[in-house]
Amino acid sequence: MIEYLPLKRITAMHADEIHQTIRQVVDGGWYLRGDATARFEEEYARYIGTKHCICVANGLDALTLILRAYIYNNILSEGDEVIVPANTYIATILSITENRLRPVLVEPRIDTLEIDDSLIEQAITPRTRAIMLVHLYGRCSYTTAIADICKRHHLLLLEDNAQAHGCTLPPPDPSSSVPYVAILSQPKTGSLGHAAAHSFYPGKNLGALGDAGAVTTDDDLLAATVRSIANYGSSRKYVFDHIGRNSRIDELQAAVLSVKLKYLDQDNARRRAIASYYNDHLNHSMPNIQWSVNNVWHIFPLLCQHRDGLQAFLAENGVQTVIHYPIPPHKQACYKEWHSLCLPITERIHAQELSIPCHQAMTDAEVEKVTEIINKFNA
Ligand SMILES: Cc1ncc(COP(=O)(O)O)c(C=O)c1O
Repeated sequence: MIEYLPLKRITAMHADEIHQTIRQVVDGGWYLRGDATARFEEEYARYIGTKHCICVANGLDALTLILRAYIYNNILSEGDEVIVPANTYIATILSITENRLRPVLVEPRIDTLEIDDSLIEQAITPRTRAIMLVHLYGRCSYTTAIADICKRHHLLLLEDNAQAHGCTLPPPDPSSSVPYVAILSQPKTGSLGHAAAHSFYPGKNLGALGDAGAVTTDDDLLAATVRSIANYGSSRKYVFDHIGRNSRIDELQAAVLSVKLKYLDQDNARRRAIASYYNDHLNHSMPNIQWSVNNVWHIFPLLCQHRDGLQAFLAENGVQTVIHYPIPPHKQACYKEWHSLCLPITERIHAQELSIPCHQAMTDAEVEKVTEIINKFNA
C-alpha cells in the first residue's frame, strides 16, 4: 500500500536530530515557556519575514486569538463581518464564529480552488472589517487586487497559513524553469497581511509531533495582546489584563519544529518536483488545476466527476487517498443557518476533490506507480 501520508517515514528522515533534541529537552527539565520556544519563535519569525512570532497550542487557537486580540484592542467588535473562502477547513470559520463575528462566505475559482478575488468587492457591506485569506492546499491566494480592495475599504488582511508554510508570492518570471532560489527570495505567505495564523499539526508541511501553532505579525500591539491572551490574559505574573486562556506550545514541540524548519525548503522542493511530475504525466480527463511555481503542495488535489470510483480503484490498486473535504462548512450540521446558501463551485469541489499522495518521503517509484494507476482509471 502506498500510504497517503506516512508520518513515521517522514519523521525517520531526521530521526537522529529529532531524538537528540527531544533528549536535550527531557534532560534539561524545563518543559514550557523556555529556551526552545524562544528559539523557534525567533527562527520562524525570521523565516516568514515578520517582526513577531507567538507560539500557541494549535492552528485554531492562532486564528481565534488573532481575532480576539483585535476585539480587545477595539479594532473589531461583535457582529463585524469577515470575508472568507467558502471552501476552507472548518477551523477558519470556527475562529470567526467563536468570536461572535460573522463569516461572509465567498466562492473560490474552479481553476485555482482559491478565493475568487473578482467576487470579494460585491460581498463587502458597511460591517465588513477583514478579509481572511486561506492559502488552501499550499497555494498562495493573495493577489494585488485583494490588497487593493483592503486598502480602499480599510479592511484588515489576515492569512490562514495552516497549509502553506514556505509558500511565497509568485516570482516575476513564473515559468516552470524559474530557479528555486528566485522563488525563495519572494515574500512569504504569513507575512503578506496584518497577521497570520499557522498550524503545526503533524500532517502539515512543517509538522510537530503533536499539536502546535503560531501567530506571525509586524504589529507590536497585536503581538503583545495575543501573547497575553495565550497566557491567561497576563503579561506580568499574577496580573490579568484580559480574559485569557491557556494556549501554550510544549518545549518538546518547539525543539522538534526547530529541527524540521531547517529542512522545510528542501521538503517543499521535493513536493514541488512530485507535483510537477503529476502535472506532466497524468493524462486523465479531469479539469486541470492551474499550475503555479510557488505552490508548496501541502495537498495535490484532483477534481474528478467519478471521485468515489477513482478513490475505490486506487485503494484496490494499493494507493491510499484522502478527500479534502467531503462536506463544505455551509452544509455542516453545526451551521444550519447556512444550509440554503447557494455556493455551487464550493459544492462541486467538495463533491469532486481527491487528494493523492504528495510528500517529501515519497520515492520516484511510488510517484510513477500512483501516476500509472490513475492513468488506467476508466470512469
Ligand atoms: C486551513 C486550516 N486552518 C486551520 C487549521 C487548524 O489547525 P489545527 O489543527 O492546528 O488547529 C487547519 C488544520 O488543521 C487548516 O487546514
